[in-house]
Amino acid sequence: MTKKTFKIAVIPGDGIGKEVMPQALRVLEAATTRFDIELELSPIEWASCDYYLAHGQMMPDDWKSRLQGQDALLFGAVGWPATVPDHISLWGSLLKFRREFDQYINLRPVRLFEGVPCPLAGRKPGDIDYLVVRENTEGEYTNLGGVMYAGTEREIVIQESVYSRFGADRVLRFAFELAQARERKHLTVATKSNGIAISMPWWDGRADAVGADYPAITVDKQHIDILSARFVLQPGRFDVVVASNLFGDILSDLGPATTGTIGLAPSANLNPERSFPSLFEPVHGSAPDIYGRNIANPVAMIWSAALMLQFLGAAEAHDAILAAIETVLREGPRTRDLGGDASTTEMGEAIARLVSQA
Ligand code: NAI
Ligand code: MG
Repeated sequence: MTKKTFKIAVIPGDGIGKEVMPQALRVLEAATTRFDIELELSPIEWASCDYYLAHGQMMPDDWKSRLQGQDALLFGAVGWPATVPDHISLWGSLLKFRREFDQYINLRPVRLFEGVPCPLAGRKPGDIDYLVVRENTEGEYTNLGGVMYAGTEREIVIQESVYSRFGADRVLRFAFELAQARERKHLTVATKSNGIAISMPWWDGRADAVGADYPAITVDKQHIDILSARFVLQPGRFDVVVASNLFGDILSDLGPATTGTIGLAPSANLNPERSFPSLFEPVHGSAPDIYGRNIANPVAMIWSAALMLQFLGAAEAHDAILAAIETVLREGPRTRDLGGDASTTEMGEAIARLVSQA
């Protein structure tokens, strides 16, 4: 049988991105060997603050054509505020990938693992297990607007929200499809139609229109305020949650926060049509406060690499990595953010070892 080959750009970025990426590559090596997958890895040293300091920009001018042919981008974290302001490093790299590669889905799994203390009282593994789907290209995050009469008593500011039928329908459809593939077949649609009285009733209407194709799915529309409260009070209500850009941004930080450390949370920025490469990255940043000590938790990065394999069609490899993560979180070794004293490398090695075992 011929092996499947995927081209992956490996972009560690800054800080602990450079420490957790080698662990993800170690685990990928174990998974691809076991499941007979071939990855053609291209290490990329740009999209980092070191590159910026040497070249005055975050990426070479031809970054897009250099990455266009890749199947996926595996990304660590970007940012080193001591030398490069965050808006320059982030807008000069990660946000360009998301926008110019039309990665309109931001997908974040939220799950409470055995062995990880839960900040919510009385919750056990299984109680929290859902997916947040955030619209990643329009909505509340636009550059349409401006300030008039700046600095005077008459100063006014306007910033528009923009929703398109094209943009809303494609993220809603993705969420319905995701719910369809899951056991519970339940979709929560985040709204605020009682307060944002034009665009949000319209958004709800698009959810109804798209949902007409998915009669097996139960749909629950919830206003964003009470929905946020329920993430904390009744997390068991959720299976797949779909939200506009701003609402999804907030929910996708709140959700993972309820399951313990940020060192576990993965994310996928997807262009489902594969017209462009999709990007897989941990939710956390470059953590300058712990960089250089080999103590960062590598799980968020490793889980992101597993999501990449799943997106590429290697579901078995994804499942094997997830199972290994589950075992290590339960039995150790654990990094400090999980109450242990293992190094980044030790945790990565333990996960890789389990993945190797058929
Ligand atoms: P951060 O996520 O880097 O760190 C927040 C806190 O969580 C720190 O105390 C850190 O030590 C801890 N932490 C993060 N990841 C961890 C891990 N894997 N294991 C153990 N502890 C972990 O967020 P912060 O400090 O606000 O930002 C630092 C830099 O990262 C900034 O330049 C920021 O712009 C950038 N950033 C980049 C992101 C990205 O590349 N997607 C996302 C968030 C921040
Ligand atoms: Mg955010």
